[in-house]
Amino acid sequence: MDSQGKGEGIRAAAHVAVIMGSQSDWPIMEHTVGMLDALQVPCDVKIISAHRTPDRLYAFAKGAKDRGFKIVIAGAGGAAHLPGMTAALTPLPVFGVPVPSGPLVQDSLLSIVQMPCGAPVGTMAIGKTGAINAALLSAAILALNDDELAQRLAAWRQAQSDAVAMHPDTDK
Ligand code: RP5
Repeated sequence: MDSQGKGEGIRAAAHVAVIMGSQSDWPIMEHTVGMLDALQVPCDVKIISAHRTPDRLYAFAKGAKDRGFKIVIAGAGGAAHLPGMTAALTPLPVFGVPVPSGPLVQDSLLSIVQMPCGAPVGTMAIGKTGAINAALLSAAILALNDDELAQRLAAWRQAQSDAVAMHPDTDK
């Protein structure tokens, strides 16, 4: 699957891989894909579980750079090994999105942000905010070498600024 529903055909052009530990992460990670789509940044989207599909994780992470990916965004909940294991297996930068799941809610944040020294994971905020920011941060990095993307990102940020009223609506 890819973000634009075009199957295998677009994968060679995708510079961002979006992976998640479970189908249950999709309601959060769809915001990453949506933001990338809005900026016209092709991505490849997969479910890869560190504990249920470790062979899939190994194959993906070891081959990610050769497949042309520049950045991996990994969303996971619970003990959240996925971003860290991915970072251990690939030289690519990895951003982790803590997905709130289960009774502890913050366990995924702590699991991802507390990577031991030597295998960094750029850790986002919990949930939807982190999912969107992972896409924006990835776009900003790719835009360093892509002037058209830089313009799209600048336009998105300008629209965000323009949407902020000068004064609060006191009826709300
Ligand atoms: C993690 O366990 C996934 O990333 C997910 O957030 C969490 C729960 O997974 P499911 O039991 O819903 O498949 O691996």
